[in-house]
Amino acid sequence: MFDPDTLPYYDPAKERKVAVITGGTGGIGYYTSLHMYLHGYVIYMCGMNSHRVNKVIQEIVKEAETRVIMSPKDTLLRNAIFGSLRYIHLDLRDLNCVERAAAKIEKLEEKVDVLINNAGIMAVPYEETKDGFEVQLQTNYISHFLLTMRLLPLLKKGDSRVISLSSIGHNLEFTYWKLSQSFKFPPNLIFTWFRYAMSKTALIQGTKMLAIKNPDVLCLSLHPGLVMNTNLFSYWTRLPIIGIFFWLLFQLIGFFFGVSNEQGAIGTLRCALSRDISAENDNGKYYTTGGVESKSSSVANNLDDAASSWIWTVHELKKRGFEV
Ligand SMILES: NC(=O)c1ccc[n+]([C@@H]2O[C@H](COP(=O)([O-])OP(=O)(O)OC[C@H]3O[C@@H](n4cnc5c(N)ncnc54)[C@H](OP(=O)(O)O)[C@@H]3O)[C@@H](O)[C@H]2O)c1
Repeated sequence: MFDPDTLPYYDPAKERKVAVITGGTGGIGYYTSLHMYLHGYVIYMCGMNSHRVNKVIQEIVKEAETRVIMSPKDTLLRNAIFGSLRYIHLDLRDLNCVERAAAKIEKLEEKVDVLINNAGIMAVPYEETKDGFEVQLQTNYISHFLLTMRLLPLLKKGDSRVISLSSIGHNLEFTYWKLSQSFKFPPNLIFTWFRYAMSKTALIQGTKMLAIKNPDVLCLSLHPGLVMNTNLFSYWTRLPIIGIFFWLLFQLIGFFFGVSNEQGAIGTLRCALSRDISAENDNGKYYTTGGVESKSSSVANNLDDAASSWIWTVHELKKRGFEV
């Protein structure tokens, strides 16, 4: 697996590198933020709850110090100069909140080097946000689309990288589903997965379209791996009685096919920081566990369908007063 210690280390006093990450409090996002902090990045941690994000920031700072002390003397990590971590309020279920978060970052920074669209929810019951979208579609895709478009001018002044966490689950979309399709049918046990797959396919399609429209910005999507000990599965494992069955099932999957929370962050880190990947050679590509180049589904790869999803998203945002 790719070793994040081989990625470049920056001294924020000499070369200020700025990253924006959504969902840094979660399993994969936590380790992504930790490594980027170790590599000297100024990180804006966008999350819903200030108490939770600030607690995680303290944990990352502590863990970073421990890792440096524990690392062998001749490693680059031993001499790492840490970046910094700052909280930005962001609830992806609210488009106005996305606008405010982007505006705040614009006020604070002249450029952004990397945007990591990491936050996500999976297989939750049908719910509509106050913006009128199905909650998985908005959280996983539409709000990240808006955030990306708002930060694009800043990204173009920096290292110009947009990394979006999709999922192997996008393959469940076996034929193209228009994004206006809401799958509001019972049973939730089946149709919630279709809604998840649709949101994660849309994220890959959006990445490919963004890459075509902005060849100077490196836009990548990825599946981080099966990381079973994160909160992503908590809706199912917390169900009364039957939750035990789901917990056991997820543990079994994790045992045979899973990777650790930290290994789940490796793909993102490679895409976000590696100098081996460039906009000229790799734009729009899809990666998998450990940062290995892979292929997304034929549905996600179809550029006509990707264009339809893009146009639908732009129209729906416009209807709600958000010009992109
Ligand atoms: N774990 C896996 O096996 C797996 C597999 C494939 C893809 N993925 C993708 O990888 C990404 C990270 O997953 P994970 O396993 O680390 O999940 P996780 O532990 O549940 O973390 C999800 C993160 O998203 C944040 N979030 C959720 N809803 C939000 C909202 N409305 N506004 C802002 N932030 C919100 C959460 O914040 P709070 O802490 O405040 O709730 C949390 O920080 C997700 O996009 C997921 O779909 C994961």
